[in-house]
Amino acid sequence: MIGTARQGLEVSITGLGVRVPDRVVTNDELSQYVDTSDEWIMERTGIRERRIAAPEEALSDLALPAARGALAQAGLEGKDVDLLVVATVTPDMAFPSTAAILAHELGAVGAAAYDLSAGCTGFMYALAQAYGMLAAGLAKRALVVGGDVLSRILDWDDRSTLVLFGDGAGAVVLEIVPEQGFLGFELGADGGGGESLWLPGSGSRIFEDPDRHVKMNGREVFKFATRILVQSAQELLEKCQLSIDDVDVYVPHQANVRIIDHATRKLGVPSDRVVVNVDRYGNTSSGSIPLALADAAADGRLRPGRLVLMTGMGAGLTWGSALMRWTMEDAA
Ligand code: ACO
Repeated sequence: MIGTARQGLEVSITGLGVRVPDRVVTNDELSQYVDTSDEWIMERTGIRERRIAAPEEALSDLALPAARGALAQAGLEGKDVDLLVVATVTPDMAFPSTAAILAHELGAVGAAAYDLSAGCTGFMYALAQAYGMLAAGLAKRALVVGGDVLSRILDWDDRSTLVLFGDGAGAVVLEIVPEQGFLGFELGADGGGGESLWLPGSGSRIFEDPDRHVKMNGREVFKFATRILVQSAQELLEKCQLSIDDVDVYVPHQANVRIIDHATRKLGVPSDRVVVNVDRYGNTSSGSIPLALADAAADGRLRPGRLVLMTGMGAGLTWGSALMRWTMEDAA
């Protein structure tokens, strides 16, 4: 699906917060668990290190400080929020939703709260949903969280997946604003590719499966990712009657530096406009894009009026892009 924002009803990000676990795990440390090396991981993925949650740390423990940071930046408190969406494939538990847990912790009494599952694209889906609810007048202020603790569902004996992922979360506040914010969204899914990246023993089909680990066909996902990052971005830009030359900050899903480089080259984005932090965090799934936004804010690239293009892709297979004019004065 694809669409442009409603004229005269502007929605934008007014607060941004992130949190990653304290523990840094380097490639060398991983080579103690599986047959791999820093050289292989760097060459094939560009990942140097990732953050791994402590045994007692669940998603809401990362999401809560991220959400508090976003609310503080927006000058709001939990009680001001009437919609709370958490995009994740690793909620604290199946139910209650992590969003409901978070709403309680934040004092967002009475806010609608639910989790959303769209793999690594979850944050993009959640942004679009929250945008839609604000634009339709269903909600006034939304808190959108993207985050995962993928280390919990990885097979720590499988080198082909273990080296790729990390843990982290980010949150944004969405509000109605006077100036132009979101310009449009493009979202999609191809369930036919579901088995390229899946967690089969995690629900009602194979509930008793003792092997509750991520399984991935890396080459298939690689092919899909390189194609879809380009296609989704181009379709959205065209729909919004803009070109890649208009994009000031490009925030692709942080899965692999080779995938990002490929998309950047094909789209024709100058490298200084591309946000890359996969080297420090690995692939944090739904946390990836908000963590990258926070880095772009910290290095001064997110300034009012700048055109920001975000594209996510992941399990489902799913994908999603958003185009927005940044409106916050000081996002760092
Ligand atoms: N260390 C050392 N060797 C390894 C490792 C490792 N960690 N992993 C695999 N290998 C070996 C393989 O066994 C294979 O050996 P063989 O030739 O003897 O069989 C060799 O390295 C090459 O394997 P390939 O799979 O061909 O390597 P490739 O260049 O395709 O890179 C990678 C693999 C990095 C997984 C790549 O395919 C990729 O990035 N795919 C996309 C994955 C991804 O982004 N997934 C997340 C999507 S987003 C989401 O929703 C979560």
